[in-house]
Amino acid sequence: MKIAIGSDHGGYEMKEIIIDYLKDKGHDICDFGTKVCESVDYPVYGKRVAEAVAAGQHDLGILICGTGVGISIAANKVAGIRAVVCSEPYSAKLSRQHNNANILALGARVIAPDLAKMIIDEFLAAEFEGGRHQKRIDMLSEIEREQAASNTH
Ligand code: RB5
Repeated sequence: MKIAIGSDHGGYEMKEIIIDYLKDKGHDICDFGTKVCESVDYPVYGKRVAEAVAAGQHDLGILICGTGVGISIAANKVAGIRAVVCSEPYSAKLSRQHNNANILALGARVIAPDLAKMIIDEFLAAEFEGGRHQKRIDMLSEIEREQAASNTH
């Protein structure tokens, strides 16, 4: 799979661990930074990964900050992005199957790297089920269209 990954300083260390883990599994990983431990701003990296995923350059994205919260909020500002923060595998699996989530956000100060790997495995293995769930995804897209239209008035 082609996977875009990014983090702020809070997620930097875990990002490096996850990149190695996913490369070992044969995935094609694109690292959008940060590439330093110094304090940076999570919206920058959330936006970068979200734009790359929304443009179809990558199958899925992974974002990591201290809690996963700030960086997922940033990603969700980009049209077409459905980013989810998960701290356990069940939600990660269901977020793909039911919500067609395209970015997984993790909190490096919340979960240990081994649990992060389990969550990522479930997220990558699961597929969107479509059917009754498609209508709800279409409704999310409609909210985006309405918001974009109201911003132009
Ligand atoms: C950075 O200190 C921290 O606020 C950030 O990594 C993240 O947890 C924000 O949601």
